Amino acid sequence: MTVPIGIHDISMATGQYAMDLAELARRNDVDVNKYYIGLGQTTQTVPAADEDIVTMAAAAAKQIVAKHGVDGIRTVLFATESGIDQSKSAAIYVQDLIGLSSATRAVELKQACYGGTSALQLAAGIVARDPEQRVLVIASDIAKYDVDSSGESTQGAAAVAMLISANPNLAVIDETVGLYTAHVQDFWRPNYRSTPLVDGGLSVRAYLEAVEQAWKDYESRGGRSVTEFAGFCYHQPFTKMAYKAHTRLLELKGIDATEARLYADLSPTTIYNRAIGNSYTASLFVGLMSLLDHAEDLDGRSVALFSYGSGCVAELFSLTMVDGYREHLRTVENRAAIAHREPITYEKYRALREFALPEDGSDVTLDATSRSPFRLTSISGHSRIYEASH
Ligand code: HMG
Repeated sequence: MTVPIGIHDISMATGQYAMDLAELARRNDVDVNKYYIGLGQTTQTVPAADEDIVTMAAAAAKQIVAKHGVDGIRTVLFATESGIDQSKSAAIYVQDLIGLSSATRAVELKQACYGGTSALQLAAGIVARDPEQRVLVIASDIAKYDVDSSGESTQGAAAVAMLISANPNLAVIDETVGLYTAHVQDFWRPNYRSTPLVDGGLSVRAYLEAVEQAWKDYESRGGRSVTEFAGFCYHQPFTKMAYKAHTRLLELKGIDATEARLYADLSPTTIYNRAIGNSYTASLFVGLMSLLDHAEDLDGRSVALFSYGSGCVAELFSLTMVDGYREHLRTVENRAAIAHREPITYEKYRALREFALPEDGSDVTLDATSRSPFRLTSISGHSRIYEASH
């Protein structure tokens, strides 16, 4: 008998500040409903200068090791597309900050927003080979576009940490998946740039094509039919994208994509992303947490997840919820992480954007502003120095 493998625990962290998109609408002189309704976004997380993908990742992962300890964790897979180093993996900083054993493999994975799903599937493979092991999967990103570009309204930041194990408390990762890869230049960030190049219209079309193709592959491999799923989570660069994607899927299956149906299927999974903004690799899993924290009881039911990473790679996979999973959720903490962000004006956001670590890597000490349990304190001798603040 094969042992069930899946998500034993899941936690999240986001950044210090939240900018209401009304602030951006004021700056851009557009109707705020373009953002609130047209994109389905209300606020976006803006990290403090002493926060980055490592501090958010460690803050999320700390919650997991505080509850389950570190025993059996021999692998940390860190998915990101906002890497802090071209060589050293961000996973090593987290391994150190949260006190994992030195007998650990710590690596970073990249394929735009899809990276988190690749880490999840690789983790499931490691646990299948040795069910005594548990794998820490982290997805952490800061979505940042050029100032005054159309992507700016879809910025955000968050990290999600997941413990993948045998006999999980929350959800079993089902084996059947649908895959799709195509060479598309919809969104990419060459090494010399700190913000991506993006063809917004093409990216939306490429995403929708990927939905269709990944479902086709999923079905050809004997996957469930759409009507068998009790929940749907999509990668959410902005929450309206989930509505576009689900409409495409329902129409493909000959199901009426009525407003009521779309709302029922998607409103629980979009609550957190609507407030956080895009968090690239973390976004799909923030959507999963939002669904689990707001849906009716899903004991024994299956949830479909669609992961998309520009460039592009997509995967359609599913989770089957374990009976009693609701006792293991972190709903209070998740809501608090979002609610406790400090509201900022457009001017403060610009000041934060304009602050940049010296490009030549010279030494700098950062003011302590983050309330996160971990902060970036300085750059010294070209090294990033982090500390646990409490
Ligand atoms: P834009 O030019 O700012 O907006 O670009 P728009 O003119 O397309 O309008 C957006 C929506 O607002 C439209 O609705 C308007 O009608 C509506 P739609 O026709 O799409 O349903 N609207 C209004 N609604 C109500 N009241 C109003 C009003 N005015 C207008 N007054 C775009 C939007 C998303 C293209 C831009 O923000 C962008 O380029 N974002 C970045 C790229 C992106 O997010 N692409 C999504 C798919 S690719 C992906 O998901 C991967 C990604 O996460 C990266 C990765 O994988 O690493 C991005």
